[in-house]
Amino acid sequence: MSHEQGESTENSEQSPISELRDRREDARLGGGEARIERQHEKGKMTARERIEYLLDDDTFREVDPFVEHRSTNFGMEEKEYPGDAVVTGYGEVDGRKIFVFAHDFTVLGGSVGEVVAEKICKVMDRAIENGVPVIGLNDSGGARIQEGVDSLVGFAKIFRRNTEASGLVPQISAIMGPCAGGATYSPALTDFTFMVQDTSHMFITGPDVIETVTGEQVSKEELGGAGSHSSKSGVAHFSCRSEEEALDRIRRLLSYLPQNNMEDPPRLAPWDDPDRQLDEITNVVPEAPKKPYDMSTVIERIVDEESFFEVQSNWARNVVIGFARLDGRSVGIVANQPRVSAGTLDIDASEKAARFVRFCDAYNIPIVTLVDVPGFMPGTDQEHNGIIRRGAKLIYAYAEATVPLLTVVVRKAYGGAYIVMGSKCLGADVNYAWPGSEMAVLGPRGAVNILYRNEIADADDPDAKRQELMDQFRDEFAHPYGPAQRGYLDDVIEPKETRSRLIDDLDLLERKRKDKPPKDHGNIPL
Ligand code: HXC
Repeated sequence: MSHEQGESTENSEQSPISELRDRREDARLGGGEARIERQHEKGKMTARERIEYLLDDDTFREVDPFVEHRSTNFGMEEKEYPGDAVVTGYGEVDGRKIFVFAHDFTVLGGSVGEVVAEKICKVMDRAIENGVPVIGLNDSGGARIQEGVDSLVGFAKIFRRNTEASGLVPQISAIMGPCAGGATYSPALTDFTFMVQDTSHMFITGPDVIETVTGEQVSKEELGGAGSHSSKSGVAHFSCRSEEEALDRIRRLLSYLPQNNMEDPPRLAPWDDPDRQLDEITNVVPEAPKKPYDMSTVIERIVDEESFFEVQSNWARNVVIGFARLDGRSVGIVANQPRVSAGTLDIDASEKAARFVRFCDAYNIPIVTLVDVPGFMPGTDQEHNGIIRRGAKLIYAYAEATVPLLTVVVRKAYGGAYIVMGSKCLGADVNYAWPGSEMAVLGPRGAVNILYRNEIADADDPDAKRQELMDQFRDEFAHPYGPAQRGYLDDVIEPKETRSRLIDDLDLLERKRKDKPPKDHGNIPL
């Protein structure tokens, strides 16, 4: 049947069951064979193929396959598309329920009109009511032009559901085609965004409009491709080589998450020795406080083998975030990365880590923080762009978190960054440090330059004097026993016992519950 000619599917000679089957087949074809072919030629799957790939076999239950648009503008009354431009329903991933919606680009470019929005809102409402995650597979030209303000209102309803669902059920977005206008803001309101390289784009306004308004010329890829959004803007959390890779990684991400905020994440049967001693870990972290190394190696050695799943690996790389497992339990990892900008905290790193801490806190995922940080990034660029209010987000996120917080200082923690990175006084349950680590207001050079400015200037050999004073400062602060004497550290531990100590603590903290006084919400410095 041609979808554009408005032929009726009704046939009085058909049995009701064969009519149902015909109608289903009609809906399954979306915009028709030719458009499906065009979708494949672009290297893209159809909405239904994506859903089939994402879900466990034979678990998809479609909702609203017969819903049709009610528009009569611009010849729309001639066009009949059962199910309209989105496929919605529920199914299972690893035996756990999820709701899913997938824009069907073969129908009017996956554009969102009144009933597309209604279909999406319906599954979102059910997901919220039943405590089930929502996955959105986006491939949409945004608000349907023919439906005018009805389309805009439709988006508003989706945004409202996104916000209502936030913190109740995990929301994950995959961008699998062009996503313009409203089609970008709904993913931005969700928890994690996956993009596919070359075939997906996100922008508020495309290159043509930009050139008209500002004269700037930019390609679609440079403006809003997976590379730009996963390394420059931080809009995308994952950049994937193919749609299959994106869908595989969504399945993996879900394995770390609970179904909703009232549940704990699933614990897998442990496969790695909880008492495994990390004998070789001291070879990874150099003693010299400024020598770079790769914190990812430290994380991978501590957590269960092969369990580290990094998030936003290409953006704000001076901080590392991701999910992992310790003795089969899901944990969130936040760690400074001395290999990039010496691991300093800047605006992007603070925002990246803060949002991740809040996600873990919302979904009962304990946070392990590994600290090796020289401080906040100095400079006018950072100051003028608001490092004060934007760095404060990370303080806020840790301070309000009620999930188990376990922090290990592996080498150094200076100044405000010591406080921010999950310190005890900010609310962490457990703080440890390795024996060679140091905690201070400033590093030795910065400290003596301020404290002994005159002595150094008046000395016969200012450099030698500075060095002598720095050595004294180090003797005082270049070990963790000062903070340990005050109880700011619970213990100083050998690096090799880090894994087993963290696992013991997670056991203990399993039942941690911390009530908060009722309030609408706090006022995080956005
Ligand atoms: C109706 C649309 C459509 C739309 C695409 N189509 N976008 N129909 N409303 N928004 C239709 C096309 O007419 C075409 O129909 C089919 O979908 C495929 O589109 P193509 O242009 O042929 O595909 P492609 O070359 O891949 O380009 C895709 C695209 C482009 C980049 C998405 O179509 C485009 O720029 N669309 C408009 C994007 C946009 O400005 N949307 C409004 C954003 S404002 P035929 O029948 O010819 O095949 C917004 C408001 C909400 O969303 C804001 C909230 C904050």
